[in-house]
Amino acid sequence: MSDTQTVARYKVHFMPDDVAVTVNRGDNLLSIALAAGVHINASCGGNGLCKTCKVKLSSGDVDGGGQEKLSAEEYDQGIRLACQSLILSDLIVIIPPESRLDKAVQADERKKSAGLAASAWRFNPPIKKYYLDLPPATLKDNANDLFRLMWGLKQSYDLHDIPINFDVIRKLPFALREKDWKVTVTTTVISSRPHTKTKITPKIINVEPGDTRDRLYALAIDVGTTTVCAQLLDLNRGKVTAETITFNKQISYGADVITRIAYSQKPGGLKKLQQVVVDSINIVIDELLKQSGVDRHDICQITVAGNPTMQHLLLGLDPKYIRLAPYTPNANFVPSVKAADLGIKLGEQVYVFTFPSISSYVGGDIVSGVISCGMHQTKKLTLYIDIGTNGEIVIGNADWMATASCSAGPAFEGGGIKHGMIAVKGAIEDFAFDPLTMEPHIKTIAGVPPRGICGSGLINTVAELLEYGLLAQNGKFNTSVFSPRIREGEDGFEYILAHAPETQIGRDIVITEVDIDNLIRAKAAMYAGCHTLSHSVSIDIADFEQVILAGNFGNSLNIERAITIGLLPDIPRERFAFIGNGSLSGARLVNFSNDMLNAARKVAQMMTNIELSENNDFNNNYVAALFLPHTDGRLFPSVMEKLSSSKNNSRSK
Ligand code: FES
Repeated sequence: MSDTQTVARYKVHFMPDDVAVTVNRGDNLLSIALAAGVHINASCGGNGLCKTCKVKLSSGDVDGGGQEKLSAEEYDQGIRLACQSLILSDLIVIIPPESRLDKAVQADERKKSAGLAASAWRFNPPIKKYYLDLPPATLKDNANDLFRLMWGLKQSYDLHDIPINFDVIRKLPFALREKDWKVTVTTTVISSRPHTKTKITPKIINVEPGDTRDRLYALAIDVGTTTVCAQLLDLNRGKVTAETITFNKQISYGADVITRIAYSQKPGGLKKLQQVVVDSINIVIDELLKQSGVDRHDICQITVAGNPTMQHLLLGLDPKYIRLAPYTPNANFVPSVKAADLGIKLGEQVYVFTFPSISSYVGGDIVSGVISCGMHQTKKLTLYIDIGTNGEIVIGNADWMATASCSAGPAFEGGGIKHGMIAVKGAIEDFAFDPLTMEPHIKTIAGVPPRGICGSGLINTVAELLEYGLLAQNGKFNTSVFSPRIREGEDGFEYILAHAPETQIGRDIVITEVDIDNLIRAKAAMYAGCHTLSHSVSIDIADFEQVILAGNFGNSLNIERAITIGLLPDIPRERFAFIGNGSLSGARLVNFSNDMLNAARKVAQMMTNIELSENNDFNNNYVAALFLPHTDGRLFPSVMEKLSSSKNNSRSK
């Protein structure tokens, strides 16, 4: 008998992807799926906590599978948690719709606010092309090629002694001769240096044979924790040529930045996270090129905005100290790097500009959002809120700005919610009662049968249940009010949003008291963050002249309902504006204008970060906000009035 035992090999077949792989006995099912390119939702990063990685075994057997986290019915049906399953045989594995990460992202995050946008910027892209028709070299004039190029730039465009990338010198002789000494030179001034009065001189990043001035494109990309949104920009015409959105594939390694940072500390973890976000970027680039017919070689620049962890991971910078006190990022201003060096499939000449950040948890996406809505140009006292897994808040105006971040948890993006999902096709995004029948009307993104509920759906549902008295202010169902849709489930009382036959998942879609608790905690963190930051600079929340909301909420962030649950302050509704994805808008504007690039560098320097994580006031404000809308009803007078009149109405019925 041999000393070495052969490890048994099995075949795992993933459906409906129809992907088959051969694996070793004992391999982890989630890891195998990810390695095979089958992306499963895994919000807790594979730690067995979130139950988002459910798969169904059509045949075969696994060890573990998270039985203790599943209902007996689910377990009997072959449902297993992929992250807790070790492969013991050949398998056929079905990925159910609610666990899938598909490309059907339809959230219309690009809608613009009613007229809220930065003004006073010139169309003056930081990247430019110059056409030169140079005299050919002769025996009488045999100056070197670089000298000839510089001479041409000086003669034709008054550009003197500009630096040039070494790669360009290497290709210069061939470019000059290919089209009879006619070339196009590309320059850029894009830089993430802190703002100073010194003008940044352009540098030459490319030289192409012939006249290519009519082909000048750039990419604006928002790298979010959950999604990657991108626009292809025509810099000659100042317009968006194509736009798209896909999942950030890092979602399979954890739903929030803390889980991702933890994953990055595992062997090979940082490399993996960098690789998968680059994959997501390559996917959006392919899609943009397909939509527009633009040639890959004509993209000259990428501008990326993301939170500090996303920017670190994209650049391959170790985010370890972001989550360790005293919470220091690697760098707030990072020099531009070559896209090709990161694995982005674009020409050698393309640089990636990442927005400057403020602190460990307030990043380039916030700087980008602030400049896009013109907060840096207004005298109005402004509250800017980016609602997401990590909530960021900025207060101030053109003269000063203070910022803070708070961890809201993933509830606004559907994480930690029994049937939660991000704002994509099939997500319940709106909910309303028919006052006569008390039957709910639900609206899903793209109007298809529901497969889960997203953040806006949750807010709308909880607000409506509260107003109609089915939910008490402590977030518990009011079982004294009869509703055939309230029942006791495995996690306590729950409300049936859609019955099994009406859904894509073949099971009832419900909202549970645990879900509502998670939402209350998320909204309490956001509200407490706003309250604490405002008070730290002696401003009352009612003093804000405008409140700008950003975030990926699909189409239906309903301000009134967000106030009803106590997420937003109870101030006159006309002061609110929702700008959708401010981060993407800012990234676009920086491609269009040097003025906006300078604004980004300036705003990043002027913001003062206030740390809330160890702030007692924040903790007190947070606890006080763990109620619908708040333990202090005086802060929400219009909501309290509405709730008391709906109580009176139901009494009089
Ligand atoms: S439970 Fe499996 S990834 Fe969270």
